[in-house]
Amino acid sequence: MELQGKVAVVTGAASGIGLAAAERFVAEGMSVVMADIEAPVLNDQVARLQSDGAPVVPFVLDVADAEQVAALREFSLQSFGAVHLLFNNAGVGGTGRPTWKTKPAVWDWVVAVDLLGVAYGVEAFVPLMVEQGEGHIVNTASEAGLCATPMLGAYHAAKFGVVGLSEALVMELSGTGVGVSCLCPELVNTKIFESARNAPAHLGLPKPDNTPIEMLEAFMKTKAIEPSVVAGDVVDAVQNNKFWIITHDVTHIRATHRNETQQRGETPSMSPANGAD
Ligand SMILES: NC(=O)c1ccc[n+]([C@@H]2O[C@H](COP(=O)([O-])OP(=O)(O)OC[C@H]3O[C@@H](n4cnc5c(N)ncnc54)[C@H](O)[C@@H]3O)[C@@H](O)[C@H]2O)c1
Repeated sequence: MELQGKVAVVTGAASGIGLAAAERFVAEGMSVVMADIEAPVLNDQVARLQSDGAPVVPFVLDVADAEQVAALREFSLQSFGAVHLLFNNAGVGGTGRPTWKTKPAVWDWVVAVDLLGVAYGVEAFVPLMVEQGEGHIVNTASEAGLCATPMLGAYHAAKFGVVGLSEALVMELSGTGVGVSCLCPELVNTKIFESARNAPAHLGLPKPDNTPIEMLEAFMKTKAIEPSVVAGDVVDAVQNNKFWIITHDVTHIRATHRNETQQRGETPSMSPANGAD
C-alpha cells in the first residue's frame, strides 16, 4: 500500500514501538491518530510532534474496552475522513510469574489488552477498509506468540492468540484489497517491562517477582534493538504486503526448534538458541 497522503491509527502510540511507528508514518506522509491509555505521556508526545507540523491527533482509550475502540474509529473518521492503516499495537507484558501462580485478575488484564484489544480493533476497523477496497492491519504479537519460555504464561497465551487471529484474518481478507501483517519482535528497547504502570488499580495486581524482571531488564539493555528499527520493518511490510514481520533471525531458530520437537513428539523445551541473539 502507498502511504503518502493516507491515514494511520496507532494504539499504544505514547511509547516504544507505537511511538516510533507514529513518527515513521508521519515521515512517510501519513496523518496519524495516536491512541493510548497513558494520557499525559500521549498528550506530550502529540504536542511535540504537532509543534514540528506533524498531522497527528491524540485519543485516550483503553483498548480492552470494545466501546472505546469503536469510539476511536469514529474519532479517526471525524479527524481525517478515512482510515487506511490500523497498527493494533498496545500491549502489556504481564508479571513474570509461573503460570500456575498467575491470578485471575492478571489473566483478565493481559488477555483483555494483548488479545481482545487486537480483536476489537479488527472488528471496529476492518469493515471500513473492506468497504473502501483498501487498507492494512498490523497486529502486534511477539516472538512470544511463536514459542514459549517459562514465567510468561498469560503473555504467551495472549500473543499465540494474536498470531492465530492474524493468520485467520489474512485468509478471510484475501481478495478484498485489505492486507494483514503480524509483528513478532524479540527484545525491543521500550518500557514493556514497566507495563504494570498501566494496570487498572482495581485489579490489585500482585507485585512482580523482582528477580526475573531485573534479569530481563539487564538483558534488554544489552540485547534489545531500537523501536525505530521495528517501525522501519512495519513500513516495509505494509508497503509490500508482507504478513510476517520477524525482527530477529533467532526467532526462526526458536520456532523451528518448537516445530521439530513437536514433530518428534517431545515435551516442549527451551531452544538452545534462547539467549543466543
Ligand atoms: N519491547 C519488546 O521487547 C516487545 C517484544 C515483543 C512484543 N512487544 C509488543 O509490542 C507492543 C508495544 O509495546 P512496547 O514494547 O512498545 O512497550 P511500551 O510499554 O513502551 O509501549 C506500550 C504502550 O501501550 C500502551 N498501553 C498499555 N495498555 C494499554 C491499554 N489498555 N489501552 C491502550 N494503550 C495501552 C502503553 O501506555 C504504552 O504507551 C506490545 O503489544 C508488546 O507486547 C514488545
